[in-house]
Amino acid sequence: MKVLLESQLGTVPKIGRGKVRDLYSIGDALLLVATDRISAFDHILGSGIPGKGKILTQISLFWFELLADIVTNHLISADVHEFPSELQPFADQLEGRSMLVKRAEMFPVECVARGFLAGSGWKEYLGSQSVCGISLPAGLQDGSRLPEPIFTPATKSQDSSHDENISFDVMQSAVNREDALELKRLTLALYNRAAAHAEKQGLILADTKFEFGRVNGKIILTDEVLTPDSSRFWDAALWKPGGAQPSFDKQFVRDYLESIRWNKQAPAPALPDDVVERTQAKYLEAFRKLTGRELVL
Ligand SMILES: Nc1ncnc2c1ncn2[C@@H]1O[C@H](COP(=O)(O)OP(=O)(O)OP(=O)(O)O)[C@@H](O)[C@H]1O
Ligand SMILES: [Mg+2]
Repeated sequence: MKVLLESQLGTVPKIGRGKVRDLYSIGDALLLVATDRISAFDHILGSGIPGKGKILTQISLFWFELLADIVTNHLISADVHEFPSELQPFADQLEGRSMLVKRAEMFPVECVARGFLAGSGWKEYLGSQSVCGISLPAGLQDGSRLPEPIFTPATKSQDSSHDENISFDVMQSAVNREDALELKRLTLALYNRAAAHAEKQGLILADTKFEFGRVNGKIILTDEVLTPDSSRFWDAALWKPGGAQPSFDKQFVRDYLESIRWNKQAPAPALPDDVVERTQAKYLEAFRKLTGRELVL
């Protein structure tokens, strides 16, 4: 299968390009196109992973359905045949990897839930025995399960490598109190449902990030949800607190980049074929484990 590194939709206005997704404006709606780009250590790498954008999109769609009774989401359609006529010439490119969504007025916070200590949560804990102002018991390790899942909001910076954890009080000054409480409630409810599902399938959902917005006065769930790009998934069988846990999807990539001693400055290197193939297999395995289905790319 061919790799799609950049979507090309002719004169359709492209309004954003994230590390992985291209964003287009379609009247009142938005089109999110997940490419096959992959990032590591905050850089887009020189190679893509064929089909990764499709796998991620299909994972998000699975979760939108599973979580639909907790909160309404932004999805209008992921069926290219239902997309507006201006997009039909690009059907081949868009198939399986794109979502037409309601354009929302976004809340300027990343809504993170953590059930385990890792990443920036672990770093903060080491300094203050707390995360986002929430005190935690002494003696936890990198990778430990928390006594209960916690809500740890972060600012949404233009450059996502500099997202900053904030306390609930600071969040309340960016968003009003009523909304902040509701976003916290929704985030923890979504995390709990998803983590319980993942656990049944042999995966740990260590943490995840949601984004919410408002449409016609109502809070809705937006963006991608519970993909390996927005979440930390670990293989439950390999979980062993006391150090960084292997990443379910990107470990081969990280190991390779460490092995060549890349200095983590641009330009990011390309990946050898075997690392690409093994990583694609991990994304497909994540899809299979989470959904119980096989994805044919
Ligand atoms: N329904 C929606 N309405 C409006 N904006 C949305 C909606 N869903 C997602 N977004 C926004 O679209 C953008 C998607 O971009 P994307 O996640 O690809 O890149 P990014 O967040 O800029 O960078 P990164 O690649 O680090 O995530 C985000 O800014 C997200 O907040
Ligand atoms: Mg993003």
